[in-house]
Amino acid sequence: MKFFLDTANLDQIRTAQEMGIIDGVTTNPSLMAKEGITGEENILAHYKQICDLVDGDVSAEVISTDFKGMISEGEKLAALHQQIVVKIPVIADGIKAIKLLDKEGIRTNCTLIFNAGQALLAAKAGASYVSPFIGRLDDIGQDGMDLIHQLVHIFELYGFETEIIAASIRNTTHILQCMEAGADVATCPLSTITGLLNHPLTATGLEKFLEDHQRMNR
Ligand code: E4P
Repeated sequence: MKFFLDTANLDQIRTAQEMGIIDGVTTNPSLMAKEGITGEENILAHYKQICDLVDGDVSAEVISTDFKGMISEGEKLAALHQQIVVKIPVIADGIKAIKLLDKEGIRTNCTLIFNAGQALLAAKAGASYVSPFIGRLDDIGQDGMDLIHQLVHIFELYGFETEIIAASIRNTTHILQCMEAGADVATCPLSTITGLLNHPLTATGLEKFLEDHQRMNR
């Protein structure tokens, strides 16, 4: 399973890239706003900076909600860098836009997926990725992981090449469950990925090793 970093923060992307633990980055308008990136020129420049930092796909989301607007934004974003994947919301015009962008050889990530029907339409239109949001489903009392299992099963059954990005990940348990379910990618905040390293026995074991070394080498 690949890891994408779910952030627009350059320091975090640099850190994760240096650790060698990420295969790409996903952003969304809220994550860009969190970094204080505003205005078209700055936004485009920021995406380019992210692409220069990371080896792998970088999802950049359109803010238009009509077909023409999504196509024009998508083409502009894709022209920025070969690593850009255009993120498109799963609405009727979005599905139409995914189909045309695919024909033009532009890769897409269909976002805001909350059920299998939405993912199916995105995959049929030729989306490179679909992003089911598991944490937000958990937030409203549904089990987000059920959707990941369902999508893995359906995509395998019908041979879709569209990759499943488990998004809206809230904790390390989500990551492990996504691995077991067979998701292609998990996109997560850096703290959640590095959280996989934490174990109290590792911490106490290391402390003891160092103590013993110090005692014998005074
Ligand atoms: C990534 O593609 C999504 O935009 C992101 O994972 C959403 O996460 P959130 O539900 O924590 O905002």
